[in-house]
Amino acid sequence: MKKISYLVSGRGSNFKAIAESIKSGFISAENGVVISNVDGVKAFDTARSLGIPYFFVNPKSYSSKEEYEAEICSILRSHSTDLICAAGYMRIISTYLINEFRNRIMNIHPALLPSFPGLHAQKQAIDYGVKIAGCTVHFVDEGTDTGPVILQSAVDVSDDDTEESLSAKILREEHKVYPLAVKYFCEDRIIIHDRKISIRQN
Ligand code: GRF
Repeated sequence: MKKISYLVSGRGSNFKAIAESIKSGFISAENGVVISNVDGVKAFDTARSLGIPYFFVNPKSYSSKEEYEAEICSILRSHSTDLICAAGYMRIISTYLINEFRNRIMNIHPALLPSFPGLHAQKQAIDYGVKIAGCTVHFVDEGTDTGPVILQSAVDVSDDDTEESLSAKILREEHKVYPLAVKYFCEDRIIIHDRKISIRQN
């Protein structure tokens, strides 16, 4: 059975959606460990209540990004991690960790990539005036939100949507597609050809 670990920086609602999908049996996997670069985050409360180990790894305690990620890597490996889910993790994942877990790090981005990568994606969508927005689950590569797309889900943008209301609409979709992408991973149904992904039918 595969083990899923999480990189977070705050609220952790996507982590919660995946971890609960594992607990409920929707995803056939085990929860590994939660790691945050910020101490005392809400995700830790969730981890505690679900009985999942959690660690604060302070980037400031390391002299380089590589040393910091080496520590993260050693925690992930000591919990036999097969897949890392970045969920609101507010640090760039660098080559060190990507090479250690190539095509085994997922992220969720609150936009229909390749539109609106980077920060404040929902505000970017509102400011641009798009009529359809959404979210994307992708594998992490060396670029910012550029890795192969696994799943996307769209929502309509209404004339009266604000950054907050659009974010809430998109988040509801995030909580559906992220667990689904993890489920496909755990069932070995994700097929990667260069940067294109297809999902094998059962
Ligand atoms: C989500 O909107 C996600 O798409 C983005 O950061 C937010 C994290 O929310 N990457 P949460 O911490 O999972 O609640």
